[in-house]
Amino acid sequence: MDVTDFDGVLVVGAGLAGLSAALAAAPRPVMVLASAPLGEGCSSAWAQGGMAAALAGDDAPALHAADTLAAGAGLVDAGRAGLLAREGPAAVRWLAALGAPFDRTPDGGFALSREAAHGRARVARVGGDEAGRAIMAAVIHEVRRSSHIEVREGWSLRGLLQDATGRVCGVRIARDGETCALRAPSVLLATGGVGGLYAGASTPRTLLGEGLAAAALAGAVIADPEFVQFHPTALDVGRDPAPLATEALRGEGAWLVNRDGRRFMPDLHPDAELAPRDIVARAIHAERAAGRGAFLDARRAVGAHFPSAFPTVFAACQEAGIDPRVEPIPVAPACHYHMGGILTDADGATRLPGLFAAGECASTGVHGANRLASNSLLEAAVFGIRAGRAAARRSLAGRPLATTPVLSVLPAADLANLRTAMSRDAGVIRDAAGLMRLLDLTEALTRAHGPSGPLVAARLTAACALERREIRGAHYRSDHPETAAEARRTLVTLEAGTLSRMAA
Ligand code: SIN
Repeated sequence: MDVTDFDGVLVVGAGLAGLSAALAAAPRPVMVLASAPLGEGCSSAWAQGGMAAALAGDDAPALHAADTLAAGAGLVDAGRAGLLAREGPAAVRWLAALGAPFDRTPDGGFALSREAAHGRARVARVGGDEAGRAIMAAVIHEVRRSSHIEVREGWSLRGLLQDATGRVCGVRIARDGETCALRAPSVLLATGGVGGLYAGASTPRTLLGEGLAAAALAGAVIADPEFVQFHPTALDVGRDPAPLATEALRGEGAWLVNRDGRRFMPDLHPDAELAPRDIVARAIHAERAAGRGAFLDARRAVGAHFPSAFPTVFAACQEAGIDPRVEPIPVAPACHYHMGGILTDADGATRLPGLFAAGECASTGVHGANRLASNSLLEAAVFGIRAGRAAARRSLAGRPLATTPVLSVLPAADLANLRTAMSRDAGVIRDAAGLMRLLDLTEALTRAHGPSGPLVAARLTAACALERREIRGAHYRSDHPETAAEARRTLVTLEAGTLSRMAA
């Protein structure tokens, strides 16, 4: 295998976390390896709500951290949540200084929306529901004009290079059938989530857990992979990926109703439509399963302002032949965010020397069992910056490479079967029978095709969901419908194909 040396930081992935890290690593040289042209193939650009941060006069980082802890159902690391909340306002201002055109109040402050499980209006938005696209445009512009960053587009991750001590010292990547290896002092994975593993997701289909899988196969510790968040209100219009109807609509007062026009959330939670995301997702799942359907009714709360207030959602509705000004929008839960990921410290360092992770593929400890709305772009920026700085401090070790696992490619038909099985068996409601069926499928496909990214990520999710015999946050076991008194994180490693559990 030909190996090319690069004396800087290799960033794999080009969403907000990867690009924030790349900018923060200056003046060290950075090579960004992106599987698609910048701005495509990442969830960050699809985010609608915005960035949660304590920016209002009546808000404080401690209040934001408290809401983050409460949403996470006992599994949020309080220190990390505090750090996220404290560094949040500076991260939003940094992005604004790069040119992200956040909505403003007449006096120049940030216009803030309210989303579920937030005690305050604290979501800094752009153009109503265009936060992700606009923030990414500003960051991409800065990356393109930064001389320390080289961007290579169209490359997919096939594995990590390690030396005999296990230290990560590069990547194996592939494009159009060509494979190559790059050696570098530090590798920073920012490969996003696992939405592509589900038949209904609100994220790009290309997000298949490759970073998670490569890190797991190299021996990194994986935390809480069973926790997958389902956004309650994706448009149920037969599209995959499914367009989102941002939670900010419910923040504006839009109601959830069934086909009879009856609101069902007030019976289930005191915060009704603004209950935590997992509770709303299960309520919608139940209405649909009972044949009553679920709809987001924004006629009274938003009405004629819909096109200007929520242009992205309005365009998606129009494409589907729905006019949300005068009719309710059919909605269904869709896979939205992976709370689990590669365990990191506060600076993005994993337990493998030389390997860093940030964004959705990482587990920094701030999301627990259920991510608080609009904390994901925030986490991507805050911890992306921290990880980029830390990764830049590494220098080239130059030890000989060892033989390391390579991710195989899963044929399209098998990926389609896996996606159907994940949605059915590791979706909003889970039980042992379904999870075991899913594990059998991942094992059979791995025997046939080797360890592809989707199969490794699916296996981690299913195996840990099977082990978690309780209801907690986004993880709901119909066969174990109680919550354990003690909240415990899942920490596992996957070496030589064997899943080992570590003390949490
Ligand atoms: C939304 O706009 O509803 C999504 C925000 C998020 O996932 O944080």
